[in-house]
Amino acid sequence: MDEDGVDIKKARVIVFDTTLRDGEQSPGAALNIDEKIEIARVLEEMGVDVIEAGFPISSPGDFKAVERISAEIRNCTICGLTRAKPRDIEVAADALKGAAYPRIHTGLGVSDVHLQYKLRTTREDALAMGVNAVKLARKYTDDIEYFAEDAGRADPEYLYRVLEAAIAAGATVVNIPDTTGYTTPAEFGALIAGIKNNVPNIDKAVISVHCHNDLGMATANTLAGVLNGARQVEVTVNGIGERAGNTSMEEVVMSLKTRRDVFGVDTRIKTPYFYSISRLVSNLTSIPVQPNKAIVGANAFAHSSGIHQDGVLKDRTTYEIINPQDVGVPDSAIILSARSGRHGLRHRLAELGYHLGDEQFEKVYERFLDVADRKKTVDTRDLEAIVSDEVGMFFQETYHLEQVQVSCGNNSIPTATVRITGPDGQVYCDADHGTGPVDAIYRAINRVIGEPNELIEFSVQAVTEGIDAVGRVTIRVQAEEPVNGGLRRVFSGHGADTDIVVASAKAYMFALNRLIAARRDAVNGK
Ligand code: KIV
Ligand code: ZN
Repeated sequence: MDEDGVDIKKARVIVFDTTLRDGEQSPGAALNIDEKIEIARVLEEMGVDVIEAGFPISSPGDFKAVERISAEIRNCTICGLTRAKPRDIEVAADALKGAAYPRIHTGLGVSDVHLQYKLRTTREDALAMGVNAVKLARKYTDDIEYFAEDAGRADPEYLYRVLEAAIAAGATVVNIPDTTGYTTPAEFGALIAGIKNNVPNIDKAVISVHCHNDLGMATANTLAGVLNGARQVEVTVNGIGERAGNTSMEEVVMSLKTRRDVFGVDTRIKTPYFYSISRLVSNLTSIPVQPNKAIVGANAFAHSSGIHQDGVLKDRTTYEIINPQDVGVPDSAIILSARSGRHGLRHRLAELGYHLGDEQFEKVYERFLDVADRKKTVDTRDLEAIVSDEVGMFFQETYHLEQVQVSCGNNSIPTATVRITGPDGQVYCDADHGTGPVDAIYRAINRVIGEPNELIEFSVQAVTEGIDAVGRVTIRVQAEEPVNGGLRRVFSGHGADTDIVVASAKAYMFALNRLIAARRDAVNGK
């Protein structure tokens, strides 16, 4: 029962967000601690029940993130992942000790392929390891979640035995992951029903579902789990995560809400946060949201055919099953121009959920004037691109790009000159040539900053339609992390400008500054 006397095992589905753990495992999505805290604060505000904040033993950064989120987020359960190993559990318990509601999430594989090839053990030994892990974890907290990795491909009879033993040892939540995204909704639903019917002590635990999207069925599988008795859903913002990702929070929650007639359960999520948290996570991870993404994609509420437009103008419900306001989609018809002034800009930013301090506002205002001069009108999407460049930086900028100038064309050697302010306040000017304008800029920047790296991804997207659109460049660079045994890590960056060559320079500077900040944090043990 919760504080309102509602039996949450029946009426409510617990939302367990793993954006900061499984989501952060997306290639190149690495977030620093301040970025994680920012996301965790919004998750708390929007009513997420459980935040999986990291895998504490995996790195000092993950440990610190779990520790700080535990200290700062007071209204959610904070969860730390562990393998079924004593040291993992002790370290997680340590990271979680400041949490108002700590949860240890432990477990190991149950499919024969995991037991044989990954764990190299027998079913009986694995079962005993899991039981011992739960017993040890219970010494630190009463809230223990047990994951049966690769349950989607396991022998159900063995899975039932494992779950029964884990619950008997003290697990209060049992997580049934479709780790490889292999199952179909009918199979996954039947698996959950089988667990309800065949695990004798299942009424002592909440069943959780954790689905991956390898075949594009993560949301459908999760919902099939709910229909068959799961009462916790493990999700990420925008569906980011390992490989093809995890189940997306916005899709599951809006399905439960829109089709309450089918599912008969509620969540505590304040759905108008969906759009802004989607953009926040996309900006901080530099993983763009595909335009046709359900609920939060740029086209999710765009009607392009004449017949549809006509219908929506007569009555929105002809082609819209969700009111865009319910998921926080801003009205892109509202536009600003240079004449809107500070007051108009501040008002619009507040409507979009941005409450900026004076210094940040002035930076955004300067950029706004610059774009308004060049484009005449600035719509919501332009504003978001500007804001994410100016205030979406949760690390200290070491080098600042003052000026970039390029000469290129079919009969010239692409050449770039850059002016950069360094950490000592000194201004550096350098130039280089390359195969094209972006190559030339990156080489010129490298001459000043000198951080060896490899550019592994470069993409450019128009923020709005039209020839004068703001372009947004997203890049990923790979570089060695000297303090971590020479491991190569991916750092992402983004930049927006009406001139895509300038946007490319900004994106590169963003990624390099992030790389330098991460190195500094690692050296300082942050
Ligand atoms: O996909 C998976 O099986 C996981 C577990 C660690 C819960 O992420
Ligand atoms: Zn997973």
